Order: sequence, then C-alpha cells, then structure tokens
Amino acid sequence: MKLLPTTPLEQLEQRGRLLFKKTFPDAGEPCIVAHAPGRVNLIGEHTDYNDGFVLPLALEMQTVVVGSKNGKDKCRIASEAFEGLVEFEPNKDLKPGDPLWSNYIKGVVVNFLRNGYQVPAFDAVVVSEVPVGGGVSSSASLEVATATFIEALGNLHLERSKKALFGQAAEHEFANMPCGIMDQLISECAIQDCALLIDCRSLAMEPVEMKDLNICILVCNSNVKHQLSGSEYPLRKQQCKDAVTVLQSIDPKITSLRDATMEQLNQVKDKMSDVAYRRARHVISENDRTCQAANCLRKNQYEAAGKLMTESHLSLKDDYEVSCKELDILVDLALSVPGVFGSRMTGGGFGGCTVTLLRKDAVSSVLDKIEKEYEKRTGIVATAFITRPGSGANYKRL
Ligand code: ADP
Ligand code: GAL
Repeated sequence: MKLLPTTPLEQLEQRGRLLFKKTFPDAGEPCIVAHAPGRVNLIGEHTDYNDGFVLPLALEMQTVVVGSKNGKDKCRIASEAFEGLVEFEPNKDLKPGDPLWSNYIKGVVVNFLRNGYQVPAFDAVVVSEVPVGGGVSSSASLEVATATFIEALGNLHLERSKKALFGQAAEHEFANMPCGIMDQLISECAIQDCALLIDCRSLAMEPVEMKDLNICILVCNSNVKHQLSGSEYPLRKQQCKDAVTVLQSIDPKITSLRDATMEQLNQVKDKMSDVAYRRARHVISENDRTCQAANCLRKNQYEAAGKLMTESHLSLKDDYEVSCKELDILVDLALSVPGVFGSRMTGGGFGGCTVTLLRKDAVSSVLDKIEKEYEKRTGIVATAFITRPGSGANYKRL
C-alpha cells in the first residue's frame, strides 16, 4: 500500500490561481491566497464540547482559497471538488441553501457581518488536498481558510481564536453540525512541529514539540462514513449533559464533565442510566489521558503515550460507542506490528480515520499488513498518509 503524497503549498496555490482564471476570465489576476490545514487529533476525543482537553496537530494537507474583491453586489465562488459556480449576496440575512458545500463559506461571511465587520463582494475558488468527508476536518479547514481570506480582503486583524469561533458558528448554523471548537482552533493556531494541548474551556494552548524524526504519525482512512455520525453526535452531547445534571446533585459547581472526578461519578452511578454513566466515564478518563499523553510526549516517552492512545480507542469503542468495525480492524492491524506505540480512531467516529504513533522503521510493515488484511475483512480499500505537525492558517497577497 502506497502512502498518499502531500502536494507542496506552492503547487496548490498555483492550481488555485489557474482555476480562478478559468472560472472568472473577466476578473483579472487574483489578489489573495489564504490557506488552512486539516487536522488529526492524537488524543482527547469527544472532550471539546465538554470543556475538556484535546491534543490535535495540523496536517500538512491544506485547503486554499484564492480570490479578490469584485466590486459588484454578489460573491461568486467555485470549488475544484464540486461542479458549478455559486452566487450570493453577502448580507446578515443570508440563509443556508444549495449546494451544501457553499454553506461553509456563507456561514463564515454571515459571522463576520454579524460581528460588525464589512465583507466586500468577492470572487474566489477553493482548492484542497484535505480528503473531503474523511474525518480530518476538510470542513473546518474550508471555514478557517475562508475566514483568513476575508480577513485579508478587508485588511482586518482578528484574534485567531475569534476566527476559529466564526468557523464553529458557521458549522453549527449553516451545516447543522453542533461541533466543538477543536477543529477550527487547531486549523487556525497550529504551530509547525508541535501538537497543541488545548484547554477547550479557556482556549489556552500549550505547544508539545514533536520533532523526533524517528517517530511517525500515520493516518489511515477507513474510507467509510456511516450515516450514524450525523444523529449520534448531538445525542452524545445530550447524554453528557444528562450526566452533568445528576452530578450537580452532589456539587452544583459542576457545570460540565470537565469539572467532575471519577470518584464523584461513581458516587452518583446509581442515580443515572448505564449509558449516561459510561459516556461520562469516557469523557472524565479521556481528559486525564490527554493531559498525561502531552506530558509523555514532552519527555519522549512514546511507549506510554501510545498506550494512552490505545486506551482512548477502547474507551471510545466500549463506553462512548462511536467506533465501528472498520476502525477497530485498522487499529488492531496496526497494533499487531512491532514498533507501533499506539493506535486509535480520531475525530467524531463512525468511520473516518485512525491515527497511529509508531517508529519510522515500522511504517512499511503496518502498510503491508493493512493492504493484506483490511480489504479482505471489510471489502473496502484503505488509504494512508504520514504527516508531520504542520502550521496554522495564513495568507499572502499576490
Ligand atoms: P470532514 O471530516 O472532512 O470535515 P464533513 O462531512 O464535516 O467532513 O465536511 C465535509 C463537507 O465540507 C463536504 O461535503 C463539503 O460540503 C465541505 N467541503 C470540504 N472540503 C471542501 C472543498 N474543498 N470544497 C468545497 N467544499 C468542501
Ligand atoms: C468532530 C468535531 C469536534 C470534536 C470531535 C470529537 O467531528 O468537529 O469538535 O468534537 O468530533 O472529538
């Protein structure tokens, strides 16, 4: 099995410039190129909307938005990944509509306007290398690249976390996905060669350096996305809230699962459903694992960090119930190879990708194993790539 290559940013920009000229032959040269990466989360899953800790890193794969002001009333946008040109008037009353992909851009525009920023009409095209719908946040990278593009267009200077919040709000309102803040925040704020330990309550971030070239981060795409992902995500959020309500009976200061300890959870075990108990057990233990994993990585303790990642997978599978057969198979196959420290599903679940921490010299054996076994057991062909921790969103003027 071959690893997917990563296109250098300059080539992606070039592709964007060519697409711009082809799509808008009347518009002249584009003025701005903005880019934002996809992400992979090392550990800290389904903790962000519980005010907890996450440890993601940016991929080297990027989404690029290329464009300029057009001096007209309407924005015109196109994406290399979808057919057709979309037109809309940038105003506060913009509503989601067809095609669905355009909503991520419209949602970001609306959030700038609502927060008192002007958004001039623009022409723009989107070119991306982030696998669409593959669980490595193509949508967040599109939102953040769009926000960065609008920032450059208007000569605005926004705090990075503010742009991330605009992206998250766009996803909530325009894509009907009540996500946490992890994806947009890492796409905005990532630092080259570092994972970020993010406190999703305060939005404080601590870089965790990952420069050891003998250690790799392997992302394997199961190439499935089960329909469940849409409906189960809000259900998990609700189940976490239910657990918090019960926990408040022993301590009213508990406003999210972030505030609760395992001892407190066990005290109220009999007062809540088994499902709420297991959901809360995942979140409370995952917050702990995430902070521990950051410490291990800081000390180059890869065995220990990997063990925490694998424990995270088991907790997501058994307690949080967001894994699926294909992800479990990918994790088991990776773990059967010597030199693999840990492996787990990453992102929302029900398909998407796994993330594996391993020695560089073990990569080809893992790929061989997956190539031999995964299709045989699932009927699906997996894809994979290796990434170093990349940097966050940025723009340049052409
Ligand atoms: P992911 O895990 O990749 O973020 P989602 O299902 O949340 O998966 O978001 C995928 C959606 O985001 C796509 O169906 C599309 O609407 C939008 N999207 C992502 N990348 C692009 C792109 N390059 N061009 C246009 N729309 C995109
Ligand atoms: C993603 C979501 C993130 C986070 C993650 C699970 O799909 O966008 O905010 O909640 O699932 O950790």
